[in-house]
Amino acid sequence: MAERILTGIKPTGQLTLGNYIGVLKNLHKETSRGDCFYFIADLHALTLPIDPEVLRQNSIDLACFYLAAGLDPDKVTLFLQSEVSAHAEMNAIMQNYLYMGELSRMTQFKDKSAKMNESAIGLGLFAYPVLMASDIILYDASIVPVGEDQKQHVELCRDLVNRFNNRYGDILTMPKPEMRKVGARIMSLSDPTKKMSKSDPKGDIFLKDDLATIRKKIMSAVTDSGSEVKYDVENKPGISNLLTIYASLKDISIEEAEKQFEGYRYGDFKKAVADLVCEEMEAFQKKYREILESKAYIEALRKGARRANEVAQKTLKRVKNAVGLLTVE
Ligand code: AQP
Repeated sequence: MAERILTGIKPTGQLTLGNYIGVLKNLHKETSRGDCFYFIADLHALTLPIDPEVLRQNSIDLACFYLAAGLDPDKVTLFLQSEVSAHAEMNAIMQNYLYMGELSRMTQFKDKSAKMNESAIGLGLFAYPVLMASDIILYDASIVPVGEDQKQHVELCRDLVNRFNNRYGDILTMPKPEMRKVGARIMSLSDPTKKMSKSDPKGDIFLKDDLATIRKKIMSAVTDSGSEVKYDVENKPGISNLLTIYASLKDISIEEAEKQFEGYRYGDFKKAVADLVCEEMEAFQKKYREILESKAYIEALRKGARRANEVAQKTLKRVKNAVGLLTVE
């Protein structure tokens, strides 16, 4: 069997350049390595309050973004998580094999819940990694491309797989997180010590921003004292972030990017970064609009859901059987 590669993105807000660089941009390359399952994590989007119409529109946008990033629906399985009921069923089983202590140590939970009133923190936010582990397990995924912030959740899924297999035999496939060497963590342009994040949109570049806005945001990005364009996360987080954005869009190393900007002043360097981001976004946005208008995403999602359901049902059956759930068909 070809290796399975799986990743998901939450339709919680406007997608950012961080999502694009960290994951979206390179997904099409994975098709030559294995059998790719990419999904819209709409059940995960419910873990924080969201307006129903916004969620629906974000899901459409995200489907169009996946396709605009070059995914061919005949070569990848692109689907909505909520269209495959096995995710919820696997979640109901797997929640018994992850423990309160380990869930409460997850950075994402700690960060997100810290901003909330305790009485308003939903169980879904706490149990988020259980559903995420279920997503991965269902497709026997061995490779999970993610940004750095999601690595901890994939590690927890690995613990779960170990625990489960030790108890029931070789039932689940062991996944491995895979991150980009450059661009696994794009930082906010207004505070380069914080991740660029859709839930904290200050300093974000959104994939739907018009080009003038993108240029303006980059030109006014926070930079650091000094004048040399050098990668030094500790002392020059702003410049390092812009170098990372440049290098990952160009698919070159940080060293190569540094060399290219030797002797540049900050202003000229920022202009070069803005030119590159605008060039990339112009082409991407054009494709996005075409897909949105043609509604090509609908057939892609239908087809994806059919294939995802087939695969997921088989794994679910295997797991139900392993834990002792009786089937009478
Ligand atoms: N700044 C980033 N740099 C690199 N990769 C990133 N990712 C997210 N931000 C960056 C990666 O994008 C994938 C999809 O992310 P997600 O939808 O699961 O969640 P998020 O964008 O990380 O969510 P936020 O920003 O915390 O906002 P909410 O919770 O409101 O959606 C993941 O692989 C992620 O690592």
